[in-house]
Amino acid sequence: MDDSYYYGEGELRCESVALSEIAESAGTPTYVYSYGALEKAYRELDEAFAGLDHLVCYAVKANSNLAVLRALASFGAGADIVSGGELYRVMRAGFDPKKVVFAGVGKTEEEMISGLGERILLFNVESVSELEHLERYAARHGKTARVSLRINPDVTPETHAHISTGQGTSKFGIPVDEALALAGRMGEYRFLDLIGIHQHIGSQITKLEPYAESVEKSAGLVEELKRRGFDIKYFNIGGGLGIRYKDEEVPTPKEFVDAVRPTLEALGTSGTKILCEMGRYIAGNAGVLLTRVLYRKNSGGKSFLIADAGMNDLLRPSLYDAYHEVRSVNNGAATAAAGLVGPVCETGDYLARDRTLPDAAEGDLLALMSAGAYGFSMASNYNSRPRPAEVLVKGDRWSVIREREHLADLVKGELIPAFL
Ligand code: LLP
Repeated sequence: MDDSYYYGEGELRCESVALSEIAESAGTPTYVYSYGALEKAYRELDEAFAGLDHLVCYAVKANSNLAVLRALASFGAGADIVSGGELYRVMRAGFDPKKVVFAGVGKTEEEMISGLGERILLFNVESVSELEHLERYAARHGKTARVSLRINPDVTPETHAHISTGQGTSKFGIPVDEALALAGRMGEYRFLDLIGIHQHIGSQITKLEPYAESVEKSAGLVEELKRRGFDIKYFNIGGGLGIRYKDEEVPTPKEFVDAVRPTLEALGTSGTKILCEMGRYIAGNAGVLLTRVLYRKNSGGKSFLIADAGMNDLLRPSLYDAYHEVRSVNNGAATAAAGLVGPVCETGDYLARDRTLPDAAEGDLLALMSAGAYGFSMASNYNSRPRPAEVLVKGDRWSVIREREHLADLVKGELIPAFL
């Protein structure tokens, strides 16, 4: 649990605000984020790179609320985006386009043109075909695209299979030897400027070895390209630093950077700036999902707490079997073996399966901890459930930063044709 969440005056608080106060006023389910925790995590990362020319980018996919983005832009962060939608958000939130990097294996023409139009810092290119398309669009619009090649370093990051990206068999990146060959042909592309190398091996990384191995590999490529006369101005080491959800031993940002510091320093002295793109580390422990227990039920010898939040609101437990700590908001000490499930019509709709949970009564409030990253951003309207509200807390102030969806939002854009 981040220090920003603690029990004070008998109940769970975020910074100086009681979570019960937020629930009373904003309703449940509601995501709550701590401004202080966001800032602390960002600064820890930034300070870990001290002494190196660097830029910490925020991976927008983790939590893309405009207020969260505005806060990060104000700290000086760059942004790592993966869609035209995220580009739209970061521009609305006030990010400097010169600090925006655009990743993703399937950028569309429209998305590339928007990126060119905003003159973003770098396109992280993942295939030869993508490179050729980017050249064509840049030529058509009379722009030069700054390109970074995403390398597939072929390492196994030892994280969940769905979120590991660095193996040779994954759809991500270009193998090192192919990247070298491709660089040799860059002269053919008149509207592309190869100035970066990018890698990202996966998410929720808790082991330093595979990550250090891949940074070494990619850095070797940067050096080789420099020897061949390329001015590689940026080396993006990716995101993925893990957080503690339960009892995982996770490296600190300093340990993460120090594991590869000599390599990064060597590149730095030859004029290469280090980028990273962290999502979960910045937003994960800054947020919780507040939910109210609707009913208690015993079935098949098991106890269930049925909450007003479900898999559509927080998908991680259902999708990845992910663990989120469950806290009692009113600090009830008693616990019981139970499952915390939602109202969605799927057996897989659970928030905490077969666990020792707060022995909550109907009407009690619970907080699902460490839900600030990939929580709301993966929420859906499944079962025609309006998505939750989002709240940002700063000191003793708090504000709704996204209204709970209304029923009318559920059918927005839907049309009944005249032939019906
Ligand atoms: N850069 C690239 C190219 C990525 O694909 C990702 C995440 C990141 C950066 C940020 O990774 P982070 O620092 O947040 O670990 N929905 C999953 C996580 C998917 C991550 C996808 N890519 C989850 O809930 O665990």
